[in-house]
Amino acid sequence: MKKQFPDQFTWGGATSSYQIEGAWNADGKGPSIWDVFCMIPGKVHNGDTGNVACDHYHRIAEDVALMKQIGLKAYRFSISWPRILPAGRGAVNQNGIDFYNKLIDQLLEAGIEPWATLYHWDLPAALEFEIGGWLGEEISDAFADYAGVCFQHFGDRVKNWITINEAWVVSILGYGLGVFAPGRTSNAAPYLAGHNLLKAHAKAVRLYREKYQPAQHGQIGITNNCDWREPLTDTAADKAAAERALEFFLAWFADPIYKGDYPESMKTRLGSRLPEITPADRELIFGSSDFFGLNHYTTMYAADAAEGAAAGSVYGNGGLSEDQDVSLSVAPDWALTGMQWAIVPWGCRKMLEWIAARYDNPPVYITENGCAFDDKLEDGQVHDVARIAFFEGYLGEIHQAIQNGVNMRGYFIWSLLDNFEWASGYSKKFGITAIEPETLRRIPKDSALWYKTVILNNGLNL
Ligand code: GAL
Repeated sequence: MKKQFPDQFTWGGATSSYQIEGAWNADGKGPSIWDVFCMIPGKVHNGDTGNVACDHYHRIAEDVALMKQIGLKAYRFSISWPRILPAGRGAVNQNGIDFYNKLIDQLLEAGIEPWATLYHWDLPAALEFEIGGWLGEEISDAFADYAGVCFQHFGDRVKNWITINEAWVVSILGYGLGVFAPGRTSNAAPYLAGHNLLKAHAKAVRLYREKYQPAQHGQIGITNNCDWREPLTDTAADKAAAERALEFFLAWFADPIYKGDYPESMKTRLGSRLPEITPADRELIFGSSDFFGLNHYTTMYAADAAEGAAAGSVYGNGGLSEDQDVSLSVAPDWALTGMQWAIVPWGCRKMLEWIAARYDNPPVYITENGCAFDDKLEDGQVHDVARIAFFEGYLGEIHQAIQNGVNMRGYFIWSLLDNFEWASGYSKKFGITAIEPETLRRIPKDSALWYKTVILNNGLNL
């Protein structure tokens, strides 16, 4: 059966700076909060760090050739803020500018559209020390200034900008549960961090729209992540719990942009822990995305929890469960990936349909979707059939969402390369390309060859 995607559909692959670049202190780069976090014993599996990672910093030509071989139409990478501004603000590091110039030029030469993310979690450590990172009042202006440096230097060639990657993860895992850098735990800080992330995003967008977009003609938006939440039963209470869980996950960031305020459920439950969107904030944030970027990985059941019962949920990926009174679970027969995330392709379709319904069918790009498996490298090959099945399942449902009217524009697999998977270090492999230990040689897995065919056919041939 053929599943044809729309003409002009963007087929891409994604990575991020800290996860692949390495060269953590080369050529004037300043330290990021992830450089520091990795030095603290016990924070990252096996004591792994991004010091070398995939050594992409020294292997641009090889990696762009790989992308070309796979046939990628677009490549989503992130710019390392401390490589551009080593102290977070002030002096620009020309070597950092040169590095991204080289990458962008080589991508364009290869016919691959660059998609640049401005913030994928590697905050300059200086800003964490000096202003409290995303909790600091000055952070949104600092981010907009940094964004301006990027628009100025790269905007003549980069036409697709993503401001912030996954504000939910930055807020909840970085400032709430403390499992990601900067490792803080609090039940109020995440909501302040989230507020500042939204303002930072919106200030960068305002700058782009006023100063750069008229001549550069690019598009700019934000990427948020959300897993689907399916009501565990048909009861009104469980349906409301699932909706509430989605609001605390995605609507937290998308409602202010598409509706001008935080969801009512959050305002009621969080009280003064949720900053108020003032009229000035609203003016800044409302309408500040040219497209809807979504990272999507999995699905869980949601049930209404009696007060307190959800606290300390073993699943961890529900945010601060006690704020929501939602209990999360998975069905015993759902297959799991190496992250223990359930493989539920229909959840992706429901997620897309929820976005279309709630936000008036905006143009959507899935900027990440993928899976970790315990791949085996045998005779220089990786037969990752489970990953191919995962992608076929998810793309099949995305295709169905398009048939059902969702305004889908593109899809980026996570990830082009096996890389540094944050607190899991190198133990979790998401790539369609393996990295041979020691030599760091790139070895396309079977899924890379499969993806090449998908791109060539502009769809699935099942
Ligand atoms: C996302 C993140 C990526 C990648 C992926 C897999 O949340 O943006 O950097 O790590 O998850 O866990």
